[in-house]
Amino acid sequence: MTATIIDITRDHDIALRRASDVLGEGFPIAIPTETVYGLAADATNPVAITRIYETKGRPRFNPLICHMADLEMAEHYAVFDPISRKLAELFWPGPLTIILPLKAESGIHSLATAGLDTVGIRLPKGFASELIRAFGKPLAAPSANTSGKVSPTSAQHVADDLGEKLKLILDGGSAPVGVESTIVRVEDGAIRLLRPGGVAAEEIEKATGLTVIRPEGPAAIIEAPGMLASHYAPGAAVRLNADHIEAGEALINFGSRSPKGIEHSAAVFDLSPSGDLAEAASNLFDYLKRADATGATRIAVSPIPDHGLGEAINDRLARAAAPRE
Ligand code: TXA
Ligand code: MG
Repeated sequence: MTATIIDITRDHDIALRRASDVLGEGFPIAIPTETVYGLAADATNPVAITRIYETKGRPRFNPLICHMADLEMAEHYAVFDPISRKLAELFWPGPLTIILPLKAESGIHSLATAGLDTVGIRLPKGFASELIRAFGKPLAAPSANTSGKVSPTSAQHVADDLGEKLKLILDGGSAPVGVESTIVRVEDGAIRLLRPGGVAAEEIEKATGLTVIRPEGPAAIIEAPGMLASHYAPGAAVRLNADHIEAGEALINFGSRSPKGIEHSAAVFDLSPSGDLAEAASNLFDYLKRADATGATRIAVSPIPDHGLGEAINDRLARAAAPRE
């Protein structure tokens, strides 16, 4: 099987129809979202969900985010406390996933939630939203990459990794945010951050007036099951906070820094020459893949500020650099 790729801008109606058909037959398809490309399937169909896990080689204890078209659809499947509702009103559609109690008999299959009594819900922007509305059911969708690898931010990334395993890839150009959604859970009136992502934690604090409680070190992150330490791993080794370059290393730079020995680097990719963290996030996964493709044995990464979207960038880089199994 080799995936058909349809350009959603040029062939919008064909894309919508074909996507709904393949989803209806119980197969996953790759779709663009504002964060990264997702591998989407009918969240109520156990066969379709099983195919997501098989295609990615993903452990089944790692639940999937369920994507909805609007708040009304979300309320059909989950129970909203007042703070979660406020977060939904402020940030949906957009790169925020909220973990909520699942309504019993709601129809979302337990394979999608890995048997938990909660469900992670997000309302994506753009074509994904149109597709969910046309299909009429929520779409379970992890990132459209082999489990443990770097997430895809273009249709070509998906085709390179999973093209032989899929029927359909929808091409919506490069994903504007570039890192996955922020995941939060409201407990006892407090917002807990389970994964930093496309909405900066500071932005949530500013909009709600509430403190966002950060996970206490890497162990706490496992609470979003499957937030395994080694993840987003390119083939080459990754060295963080590099202030010098060793011979043969490829450099992922930020803000036009000039680390010592930069002239020895096999290649240089600057995430944002002007030091803009949103631009850096949108380039992160593509540049990791490109640096890897140079064949360098190691990728050195310049220090990235840890505020705003830098928190998500540094989280993904720490996983890319973590010891491999
Ligand atoms: O931006 C995104 O979030 C992308 C796009 C496609 O929407 N999706 C994505 O999915 O990043 P994935 O599967 O790569 O990451 C989902 C994370 C996993 O770490 C999973 O453990 C966590 O969400 N998760 C899902 N449901 C959960 C639940 N009920 N409780 C705790 N964590 C949950
Ligand atoms: Mg992923």
